[in-house]
Amino acid sequence: MVGSVLMDRMQAENDFAAIEPVFFSTSNAGGKAPDYARQEKNLLDGYDLKQLSACDILISTQGGDYTTEVFGKLRAGGWSGHWIDAASTLRMADDAVIILDPVNRPVIDRALAKGGRNWIGGNCTVSCMLMGVGALYKAGLVEWMSTQTYQAASGGGAKHMRELLTQYGTLHAEVKDLLADPKSAILEIDRKIIGRQRAMAGPEVENFGVPLGGSLIPWIDKDLGNGVSREEWKGMAETNKILGQGPGFDAPAVPVDGFCVRIGAMRCHSQALTFKLKKDVPVADIEAMIAEDNEWVKVIPNTREATIHGLTPVAVTGTLITPVGRIRKMAMGPEYVGAYTIGDQLLWGAAEPLRRMLRILLGDL
Ligand code: HSE
Repeated sequence: MVGSVLMDRMQAENDFAAIEPVFFSTSNAGGKAPDYARQEKNLLDGYDLKQLSACDILISTQGGDYTTEVFGKLRAGGWSGHWIDAASTLRMADDAVIILDPVNRPVIDRALAKGGRNWIGGNCTVSCMLMGVGALYKAGLVEWMSTQTYQAASGGGAKHMRELLTQYGTLHAEVKDLLADPKSAILEIDRKIIGRQRAMAGPEVENFGVPLGGSLIPWIDKDLGNGVSREEWKGMAETNKILGQGPGFDAPAVPVDGFCVRIGAMRCHSQALTFKLKKDVPVADIEAMIAEDNEWVKVIPNTREATIHGLTPVAVTGTLITPVGRIRKMAMGPEYVGAYTIGDQLLWGAAEPLRRMLRILLGDL
C-alpha cells in the first residue's frame, strides 16, 4: 500500500523523469514493469543482489523482512549506493537517519556531508505529529510532551482496512431492519450490536484479533514487557532521533510518552498532545510559529465549527495538509499547552519523505 501511494506521488511530481527507474518485485519478477519504466520494461527480481547493486539509489517499501534479508548482503557485497527505506528495521541504527526533511533537513545535510547512505522513513505517527508541531521543538520550547493517539486501520496494512469495513458492514446488517423502523428501541439495537461484536471470531477478526468496528484497541504493535507498547516506545525514540537529539547526539532527549490507540478511521492518524513548555508563551505566538513552520501545516482556529470541519480524518485523507488545532492553554498552568494534529499516515507518514529524500540526493530539493 505504501508502495502504491509512493508511485502515485512520484508520478504526480514527475519524479520518474528525473531518474532512470528500474523496478524490482519479490513476487512477480519477469512481469511487466509500470508504464513509466523506460529501458527495462520488465520487473527485476527483488532478491537479485547483482541487479540491485547496479543501482545508485534503492527505494524499498517492501517491509522489514525484506530489508533484513537484503540490506546486509548488499552492503557486505560492497554496494555503496543510497538506501531509502520505509521499514523500521534500520531506523535506530547509528548510521541511519530518520528522514523528514521539512523538520530535520539540517540532520540530513550533516549526515550527507559525512557520507551517510542509509535514509529511513519514520514511524507514521511520529512523522505526522512533527509535521504539525515540529516548530515548537525547533524553537527549543518543549520540556516534555504527552501524546494520546487515535490511529487508523491503515497503520496495520491493507487487510486491516478491509477487515474494519467488513466489520462495519456486518454490524449494520445485524440491525438493518431495526434501524429502518423509527419506532424500534435503541437499547435493543445496542444489545444486538454488542452481541454481534462479542461473537466475532476467526476470519472476522483475523488481523486485529478483536473487533475494531464500533470499538477501539488501546494497544498498537508489540508488547515490550514493561507496560509499554512498541508504538509508544517509538514516540520518544524516533521523535528525538529525527530532531538530532538524545543518544548519539550532543543535545539531551526530550521526554515523550503517552498511549497509542487504534480507532476505526481509515488512513489518518490523529493525536491529542499536551506540552509542558519551558516558558509561558502566548497562544497567538504558538499558533504563528506553527503556521510558519512549513507549507503543509495549517492552523485550525480553536472553535467548534472550524474543528469539526477541518480537523478530522474525513477532511485530511488523501492530502498533504497537516492541520493543527485545539491549541490552548491547559488548566495545569501557563506553560501547559494542548494541541491536536492529524496527518494522512500513508503520505507524510510513509511515502512523501521517501520521494523527497530521492530529490534531495538528486540535488533538486
Ligand atoms: N505502526 C503504525 C501503525 C504504522 O500501526 O499505525 C506505521 O508506522
